[in-house]
Amino acid sequence: MNAIALHARASTDFDKKLAATQNLLRETGELYQPLTQASSLGVEDMVITHLLHALGVKSEVFVLQTGKLHAQTLDLLSTVKKQFSGQRTIRIYEPDAQAAEAFEAANGKDAMYKSIALRKQCCDIRKMKPLAIALDGKRAWITGLRKEQSDARAAVHAIDESGEKIKVNPLHDWTLGDVWHYVKTHNVPYNALHDQFYPSIGCEPCTRAVTLGEDFRSGRWWWENEAAKECGLHVAAEAKSFAT
Ligand code: ADX
Ligand code: SF4
Repeated sequence: MNAIALHARASTDFDKKLAATQNLLRETGELYQPLTQASSLGVEDMVITHLLHALGVKSEVFVLQTGKLHAQTLDLLSTVKKQFSGQRTIRIYEPDAQAAEAFEAANGKDAMYKSIALRKQCCDIRKMKPLAIALDGKRAWITGLRKEQSDARAAVHAIDESGEKIKVNPLHDWTLGDVWHYVKTHNVPYNALHDQFYPSIGCEPCTRAVTLGEDFRSGRWWWENEAAKECGLHVAAEAKSFAT
């Protein structure tokens, strides 16, 4: 059974939610320039890129290519470039190669499993530093965060002005069923790993499949406790290690 058959189920008020999301994206495009979308190439981000495209909203898309992404994610990146880059700039940000190599030479390829501090250092080199570069000069960024994804994300709002940059979360109130309903009805391309029980996809060493009854994000950094499970991209402004 593929992810569409498994998950696509629209909420009763889906049409209302979709209209609100479309309005938000249109307004965001008018109000917050220059604008960019952060895409992990996960299903939420694919829906957003599709919506931006369908609505003609002026926004770049960027992917943090950590150097540790799955082959399936890289395949989807090629598809996205083919499908969308005619009318839209897709930017790829990679970590500083010297810093990444020095970190692995000192701590090993499996450093992320050794301690939370080393895991966060790896995320800092491969995601946070490139994120700072991706957001430099931008007025706002769009993400695929949804309230339902975790307890820590239950307070996500449509527009978040608590950080250094305005963050727009157009799918904040969508359910997983809504997301997959949109994929089904609009034929949105998606990561093949979603068909192998990966609801949430990050770097290969830090993501695994989930089983029935497990939480949406339980396959991410599965060896850590719930509170530690963010890479810093979406940690509250006061707690983030972003500026280091
Ligand atoms: S993470 O913080 O745990 O990695 P998650 O994978 O749930 O986040 O993704 C949440 C949102 O963060 C995505 O919808 C996307 O906007 C952004 N994001 C996460 N990973 C990346 C990436 N590699 N490149 C660009 N944006 C990303
Ligand atoms: Fe490194 Fe894992 Fe963080 Fe990716 S998610 S940057 S591999 S620690």
